[in-house]
Parts: sequence; C-alpha cells; structure tokens
Amino acid sequence: MAATLTNPLRIGLRQERVIPPQCLIIFGASGDLTHRKLIPALFELFLQRRLPSEFAVLGCARRPWSDEVFRQTMAQRLQPIIAPNPQAWEFFSQGLFYEPVDLQQPGHLERLGQRLEQVDRLRATRGARTFYLSVSPAFYGSGARALAGAGLLADPQRSRLVIEKPFGTDYASAQQLNRVVKSSAQENQIFRIDHYLCKETVQNIMVLRFANSIFEPLWNRNHISSVQITAAETVGVEQRASYYEQSGALKDMVQNHLTQMLALTTMEPPGRFEPEPIRNEKAKVLQAARLANPEQPWTCCVRGQYGSGGTAERPLVSYRNEPGVNPNSTTETYVAVKLLIDNWRWQGVPFYLRTGKHMAKRLSEVALTFRDAPVHLFDAATGGVSSNNQFVIRIQPDEGATFRFEVKAPGSGMRSRPIAMDFSYLDSFGEPSDEGYVRLLADAMLGDPTLFTRSDEVEAAWRLYTPILEGLKQSPEKFPVHSYEAGTWGPAESDELLSRDGLLWRRP
Ligand SMILES: NC(=O)c1ccc[n+]([C@@H]2O[C@H](COP(=O)([O-])OP(=O)(O)OC[C@H]3O[C@@H](n4cnc5c(N)ncnc54)[C@H](OP(=O)(O)O)[C@@H]3O)[C@@H](O)[C@H]2O)c1
Repeated sequence: MAATLTNPLRIGLRQERVIPPQCLIIFGASGDLTHRKLIPALFELFLQRRLPSEFAVLGCARRPWSDEVFRQTMAQRLQPIIAPNPQAWEFFSQGLFYEPVDLQQPGHLERLGQRLEQVDRLRATRGARTFYLSVSPAFYGSGARALAGAGLLADPQRSRLVIEKPFGTDYASAQQLNRVVKSSAQENQIFRIDHYLCKETVQNIMVLRFANSIFEPLWNRNHISSVQITAAETVGVEQRASYYEQSGALKDMVQNHLTQMLALTTMEPPGRFEPEPIRNEKAKVLQAARLANPEQPWTCCVRGQYGSGGTAERPLVSYRNEPGVNPNSTTETYVAVKLLIDNWRWQGVPFYLRTGKHMAKRLSEVALTFRDAPVHLFDAATGGVSSNNQFVIRIQPDEGATFRFEVKAPGSGMRSRPIAMDFSYLDSFGEPSDEGYVRLLADAMLGDPTLFTRSDEVEAAWRLYTPILEGLKQSPEKFPVHSYEAGTWGPAESDELLSRDGLLWRRP
C-alpha cells in the first residue's frame, strides 16, 4: 500500500538521501520523548518516502508490553498526526515491535540479541542497527557498556549508538562518560544529540558564511564589534521541575545549544564540507573560547530566576512557587555570560550569550553588530547618531535573517535612518522546515555525524563554563540569583553586563 504524502510538493523541492535498511532500537520506548518526538519523526520520514521497506523499530523498556500494545499505545498518543493518514499509519505500524528490556539486566540484552535476529529475518533489515538511548542520562554509560558486553556494537559498519542530551553534568562527568562510551564503541559509531543543530536555520549559519563571498571578508574582528546569541523562551519550567532544579539554564541551554551556535558562528571554514573537517573546526574554536574573566567568573556571568508576573488574565507564578520546586531554590532560570575567543579572527570581540524562561518573547537568534562608521556625516532621523549595521540570523520562530543598515530618510534634508532587509524561510521556500528530530533520526540512520557533537567538542564546551560551575560550588555567594518579573527580558543586573562595555541587549 502506498503512503499518502502530507505535501507532495515538498519532495520536489528537496534532494533527500534515502535511509538504508536497518532496525532502530529505542530504549525508553514507553517514555515521553518516544511518543512526542521519535515516532512522529519516523512517521514523517515514512510519509516523505524516505524509509526503506526493509525497516523496523524495536521499542524497549522495562514494562511488559507486547508488539500489539506498543502499536496501540503509539496510535492512541499520536492520534492527531495519524488522523489524516490512517492507511499510511496502518502500513508503518506493521514495522513497530516491542521487547521488554531492563538495561541493568545483562540477561535481557542476550535475549534482545535473539529478538533482533528474528526482526532482521522478518523485515530483511540485514543486521544493520541504530541503538537510541532515550532513557535517563544515568543509563547512558551503563547502557553503552551493556550493549557492547552483549556484542551488539561490535560491528562499526552496521551498528550505531545515539545518545540523548544532556551529555554529562560538568567537564569531569563528560570526560568520564566519553571514556565509557568510547570503550564500548568507536567514535564514528557514537551520535551525541544536540537538537539545536538540526534546525535548518542553525545549519544555515554555515551556508550563509561559506557559500557567499560578501560575508566572509567581514566576518572577523576588523569589522564585527560584538555578537549576541539569545535563546529566549516564554514558557516556564512546566513539568520538568525535578530535572530543571538539578540543571538550571547554564547546563540546560548554554553549555550545549548556545555554545553550538557560537561554534558555528565563529569556526574557520572547513577544508571540505564533510563531518570530520567541520567538527575539527568547531572543536578548535571552542578550545580557543574562554570566559571574559575566568579568574573572576562572577564578573562575566549573571544569573536570574523568574518571580511572578504576567497579566490579570494570565498570571504567572514565580519559579519558587512552581510544583516540584524547592521554595528556597537558587537554580537559575536565566543566565547571561560574556565570552572571548583567543584567536586571530576574534581577538577582543565580546560574545554575549543569554537564555531564559518566562521572557518577554520566544526567540532564538545570533546578532552580529558591525563596527561603527568611522565618521558620521549624516544626522540620524531617529535623533542622535546613526546605528551600527547589524546582521541577525533568526533561528526561531520566523526563521530567516535580517540585515540592518542606514538609508536616507525621505525629505529634503540628508538624514539617515536604519532599515531592515529581510529574508524569511517561509516566504522564500513556502514551507516550514522539518521538526528537528526528523533530520536527527535520518542523519543518525544514514550514519552522517555532521550534526552530532564529537567527544572533544562536548568536553571543550563543558571546560568553557568550568570556572562558573566550580565557583558556584565553592563561593555561591559570588553568583547571586537575581529575581526578574516573569514575562520580561531578565534581571536588571544582566543589562549591566553590557552597559559596562557601552552596549545594550537587543530587545527585538
Ligand atoms: N522529553 C523531552 O522532551 C526530552 C528532550 C530532550 C532530551 N530528553 C532526554 O531524552 C531521554 C528520555 O526522556 P523522556 O522524557 O522520554 O524520559 P521518560 O519519560 O522518563 O522515559 C524514560 C524511559 O526509560 C525507560 N526505562 C527506565 N529505566 C529503564 C531501564 N532500567 N531499562 C530500560 N528502560 C528503562 C522507561 O520505561 P519503563 O519504566 O517501562 O522501563 C521510559 O520508557 C532523557 O535522557 C532526557 O534527558 C528528553
């Protein structure tokens, strides 16, 4: 039975690679991520005709489900997605299987091996396997070791291991986890997820920089005076309090997603557009990055926590009053840091990274501010001097890019005024980009590691923030958490981080 495409036009616009025959084994198949992201992404790949017919998903978790219960549970949870394509789901779900597995029971993995051989025969998946650890991070190391112990990662050509975030909780734990997974599988078998890298606009940073001759000559300390990287959310902690209390904004967002955006924005051009040259350049620039003042990290890091806020119609409770949060919690829901990069391209250019929950607007962007014009010949129509040129890459929502420059304001005088030249993905390509997990799963199953973080990148990113994490343990009083009203742009102290350098945060 042929699948019906959600939008047949999409296929024509794209040049998609076809995923080779294989079985995807999801540990944590009864968990949240599986039905919220993984199975919907696989179904989307199926609708896009990118899954081969020799394909199977083997769900694994401790609960004693059967294949049928797994299929029915997914069908119930994915109802809104399935409803327009019931026949396609019928066909797709025949490739879903389930095996009860406790990752802590070695005997279960022996049994898993036998079940996999059975699935291989049934679905002609040829022994090619992608193991996806969508379980608690506490199982990443032991899960990898258990799979290796059962001989399931022995063939580097036909077995892969996908590891969810977070990868470690600090530099030492990331190093330790790397040691364990690298003793279980080769680096080219390991796919560490950072789902920000799967956003079309994040990948577009590389295309903008390395496919256009106009940007690269300007992309350095001679022309760029500062860079702001923002990931602002309007939601609060929602149902994730128990995780978030242990994590906080620095570990949850900055060490991984914002730092990956920093790496793509600042890396040198790779020699070839291939996974290893790209990852080499990202690792190199992260190794050259540092906090603006690592000896006194509290001077280049501002932490905040949302208080109550919102409107009479939609009141927002403070973080400390959220269910599951310690009423005296000092976990940050907002953080801003100032970084520098000690290399020829970026010496002296400040990079300001910020992220927060319950902020004024949901947006992620990279904003590069160019140096001031050497002489101001025209009065700005907006009063005062003309503004600096700015190039903003909008990661989400409203994916695209904006270039801001001065033009003549209408009228008889010669006054300048800033205007924005805009590129929008939706307007240009007529379709929103794929959900990140569609790309992630496809790439992992294709064996393409470009958008996954390598061990040295992960470690360099953790090392960058070690002075803050260590300082927080040793002298927490130096890193106070400042309250900010929910629904605003964060604490006033964060503005001081920039005003000391004569700058302002963008308020898009
Ligand atoms: N949810 C998200 O949006 C999201 C986003 C980013 C990253 N992540 C990461 O993705 C992972 C999964 O998140 P989640 O939200 O899906 O977690 P979850 O809902 O708590 O699910 C955990 C899964 O692990 C299974 N499990 C627990 N102990 C096990 C064991 N010993 N052996 C085998 N399976 C076991 C559970 O099923 P049983 O109880 O039946 O064993 C369940 O299926 C986490 O590492 C998280 O950090 C999640």
